[in-house]
Amino acid sequence: MNGFETIRYEKENGIVRLTLNRPDVLNAVNLQMRDDLWDAFHAFRDDPDARVLVLRGEGRAFSAGADISDFGTAPSYIEARRARRERDLWGLLLHLPKPTIAAVHGYALGAGCEMSLLCDLRVAADDARFGLPEVSLGYIPSAGGTQTLPRMIPPGVAMSMILSGDPIDAAEAYRLGLVHRVVPRADLDDAASEWAATLAGREPRVLAYAKEAIVRGLDLSLADGLALEARLARVLVAARQSKV
Ligand code: COA
Repeated sequence: MNGFETIRYEKENGIVRLTLNRPDVLNAVNLQMRDDLWDAFHAFRDDPDARVLVLRGEGRAFSAGADISDFGTAPSYIEARRARRERDLWGLLLHLPKPTIAAVHGYALGAGCEMSLLCDLRVAADDARFGLPEVSLGYIPSAGGTQTLPRMIPPGVAMSMILSGDPIDAAEAYRLGLVHRVVPRADLDDAASEWAATLAGREPRVLAYAKEAIVRGLDLSLADGLALEARLARVLVAARQSKV
């Protein structure tokens, strides 16, 4: 699939490699990239041959966050809010019914960091740095960071990262459970591809249900989460039995 201005979309053996591709500005997320990601996430979701997404960055960073040169250029606060409601890009990423892996190197700041937090799995190069510097610019994180980060690492640590804006390195991210693996920079793509290949070999519906149980379950009480898990498990067993 081609024709994107700011990203590359490549599919091979069921694995989609989605590369943020504005290396001159450290893959800063501008309005065009948001549009491209919106279309790419839909293409991935709706393609039955696409099983796993690997999100990565071209050049020397994963992404240095929202494009600062866009700041203040939105037509109006109300229109920006309406656009966000109509186009929940980050909700779309979080709820993709297929596994997503962020392969992070260099800077993952602001929306770059948040994008990686919306993926299911994170593998980091040893040079990766994760941070949410929005408060130092007079904003708060708005690609989910205030919600995803404290659900992933101790809430107190998330609070200090968000209030200070100070980044953490890959080793610290691993210690906190923010990333699942840290590998040398040269091995990052291979590590992500290996992981993706394993997942691409699993039954898509099973992965989709397991993911749904976790992602939706995190918003529920324990009792409701257990009911959700039981319902999904029943549907899966019924589907399996109807096959035999
Ligand atoms: N938006 C727009 N352009 C950005 C950018 C962003 N978020 N982050 C980096 N760039 C651009 C720089 O302006 C520079 O462009 P230039 O070569 O035309 O001057 C280019 O990317 C390279 O960045 P540079 O600052 O020279 O690299 P560095 O290695 O010295 O510093 C960072 C890297 C990430 C520390 C620094 O670029 C930075 O602080 N970026 C802003 C991060 C940020 O606040 N993001 C927004 C979060 S809400």
